[in-house]
Amino acid sequence: MFNANPGHFHNQGRLNCGVGLAATIGEEIKKRGGKKVLVVTEEVLVKLGVLDVVFESLKNAELEYSVFDKIEADPSAHLMDAIGGQGIKDGANCVLGVGGGSSLDSAKAASILIANPGTHILDYKGDYTGVNRYKNAPVPCFAIPTTAGTGSESSWNIAINDTDNVKKVRAQSPFYVPVFSVLDAKMIATVPASVAAGCGIDAFTHCFEAYISTNGSWAFSDFMALEGMRLISSNIRQYVANPGNQTAAQAMLIGSTLGGMCLSQAALGIVHGLAKPLSAHFHISHGTANALMLPHVVKYTWRGNPAKFAKVAEIMGVDTRDMNEVQAAKAACEAIREMCADIGLPCNLKDAGVDPEAFEQMAKDCIQGKPFFVNPCKGTLKDLIAIYKNAY
Ligand SMILES: NC(=O)c1ccc[n+]([C@@H]2O[C@H](COP(=O)([O-])OP(=O)(O)OC[C@H]3O[C@@H](n4cnc5c(N)ncnc54)[C@H](O)[C@@H]3O)[C@@H](O)[C@H]2O)c1
Ligand SMILES: [Fe+2]
Repeated sequence: MFNANPGHFHNQGRLNCGVGLAATIGEEIKKRGGKKVLVVTEEVLVKLGVLDVVFESLKNAELEYSVFDKIEADPSAHLMDAIGGQGIKDGANCVLGVGGGSSLDSAKAASILIANPGTHILDYKGDYTGVNRYKNAPVPCFAIPTTAGTGSESSWNIAINDTDNVKKVRAQSPFYVPVFSVLDAKMIATVPASVAAGCGIDAFTHCFEAYISTNGSWAFSDFMALEGMRLISSNIRQYVANPGNQTAAQAMLIGSTLGGMCLSQAALGIVHGLAKPLSAHFHISHGTANALMLPHVVKYTWRGNPAKFAKVAEIMGVDTRDMNEVQAAKAACEAIREMCADIGLPCNLKDAGVDPEAFEQMAKDCIQGKPFFVNPCKGTLKDLIAIYKNAY
């Protein structure tokens, strides 16, 4: 089934992919004119030794660098502004993010703020609409993901926690994609199993939601999404069981990077829409929140596009040869449920500590983002509340 929708693809960055390649980052930055590097990361990753190879590489390339290592999960606009301030004070002419999506998004934010002193990251909130909001182009941003999940190394997005208004917002532009990223399995070998599982489902969900999206999906995003889902669904169990499994880890990284590219082309839907309030109200991590909603959203949504769901079943390894389209679509829902259950994530909102009293408010928060606009199965506030109830 060929998807003849019009579409766009714009990724400005270069991607180097291979086990051990993080050790080349210093030379790669130097080749691209980097002189003073602001490294944006988390203290815990420095303590674990994840950054040893990076610091050594920067030293070998004789680059000057300073480190901001106070990244927190779901970084706030205030934190991002502070990192930009440090970059300006240190005279950084480029930024290197090493970490999960929280570190990479913060590095992307800092690269805009360093080039535009006196501005705040919330000034850049909103979607790219053909006119960039910045006056000066961001300084080059380099990225090394240490989780296989968000795809921030290849996406147009920066997720910003607007803590003053208790909501997650984003800045989006193709010019926010890092200019150079390294996908290296060694960098994700120390991820705890629960984080590996949540991040992996986040990556799968980016591909899945982009694939079924009624806004922006086209032939290019479809083949990336299908390959991303295939790689993730066939490697996530092995990776979660042993994050040191370099073949599975490398496949997960490629899958998550494909997810970042997909979500930049086709809008994400109800899974992310319902997951976001879970993070905002109950501090559930982005990946786990998606994993809690995904099996319930697919049960609700498959009727909107059984043909695409049947294709998902096929790429997830279900033998669909003797099934009609509806049977195969339902098999996809079951395969997704099984994948989430097999990797040890909480299976319901009750176990995740969610208070059912919040369902109505969270559904209202979700509907503000117009999730049905892109979902193949349309609905109302009542449907969103029902999905939360089913997930409890
Ligand atoms: N830019 C995008 O396109 C995009 C897409 C999805 C999500 N996001 C955002 O990304 C953030 C979430 O990112 P995330 O899921 O990668 O989580 P994260 O960056 O917050 O990291 C999660 C946890 O994993 C740990 N960790 C990371 N790498 C590790 C390693 N190698 N070894 C041991 N521990 C490690 C961290 O210390 C942290 O406790 C959220 O703010 C979310 O909104 C952005
Ligand atoms: Fe996500």
